[in-house]
Amino acid sequence: MNEPKLLNVFDYEYMARELLQPATWDYISAGADDEVTLATNRSSFERIVFRPNLLVDVSRVDTSTTVLGHSISAPILIAPTGQHAFVTPDAEIATATAASAANTVLVASTSSSRSIEEIAAAATCPVWFQLYLFRDRDRSEAMVRRAEATGCRAIVLTVDSPRWGRKERSLRTEDDLPWRNGNLSALPPSKCEYLDGAPATWVDFEWLRRLTNLPLVIKGILTAEDAVLAANHGAEAVVVSNHGGRQLDGAIASIEALPEIVAAVDDKLEVYLDSGIRRGTDVLKSLALGARAVLIGRPVLWGLAVHGSQGATEILRMLKNELAWAMALSGRPSIRSINRDLVR
Ligand code: FNR
Repeated sequence: MNEPKLLNVFDYEYMARELLQPATWDYISAGADDEVTLATNRSSFERIVFRPNLLVDVSRVDTSTTVLGHSISAPILIAPTGQHAFVTPDAEIATATAASAANTVLVASTSSSRSIEEIAAAATCPVWFQLYLFRDRDRSEAMVRRAEATGCRAIVLTVDSPRWGRKERSLRTEDDLPWRNGNLSALPPSKCEYLDGAPATWVDFEWLRRLTNLPLVIKGILTAEDAVLAANHGAEAVVVSNHGGRQLDGAIASIEALPEIVAAVDDKLEVYLDSGIRRGTDVLKSLALGARAVLIGRPVLWGLAVHGSQGATEILRMLKNELAWAMALSGRPSIRSINRDLVR
């Protein structure tokens, strides 16, 4: 049988589902409760339409940009997701290799299968460390110091998880999964014990701000008022995100929350977006509504599941290519030329 031609992210999703154990598939694909937000993350993009401009010189299209001063080939970053050993034997080493090949930023999760030391050593691209705060500040500080020591270029504090969202599809099957945390390997391997995640407040963020000179990115912001608080507390960037529909079900789609946040922060912060990005046109819509870049979660895992590091590289390449295509067809040859007029 011929290898099927994998043309887009959805082809990889289909193949990943065929290849993965059901429990792994459930863990990756599930959303919280009734998965309403999971579905809205996609349908909201469909409601946005382009107003393309024609007869513009698009003989050269350039997708390159910067995030926190790092030059990247396209405004598409790798979102932090845990447990890459579930999908590929090299785990986050494969992901770091893919991010480096694509010349983008890797956000490495606290819940990675490999340690931040191993991941950073495998990467030639900028690595940002995603932090879940621990109840014990000494443990949080130790994690930040390790991220600093390994050369991570930013801390991404995820704030939408004071409790874990109930992903019921995954709760039914997750006991079959081989949980292991590469950052906290001294702890018991059981999923429930490895992360003593704690409900954090702005007071904790102020503590973190004093602790490190690294840029701080707050991930999980969905309102203008919280984005303004982020700016006032000294964050450098926010990720507008509902955690891929995995935390508060019924939460607003990131793309719908984006405009009020962009209007409120008025260039005081870089604004990124994730949750539901599956096409280059989704990236273009996000940029038109004011995001500086987007992050992708599940698509990277599908790429890793199907073809390891090469599969993840291919996911990034396809999305960048689709973005360039959409930029050409809409008369926007550079990232700078993408503006609010492009969408309705
Ligand atoms: C996540 N996400 C996540 N976020 C985070 O800050 N730390 C983490 O460890 C994880 N782990 C994780 C595991 C899995 C399997 C998924 C699917 C997601 C959320 C992630 O960073 C991102 O917000 C979403 O995945 C974006 O939505 P899409 O691209 O998956 O639709």
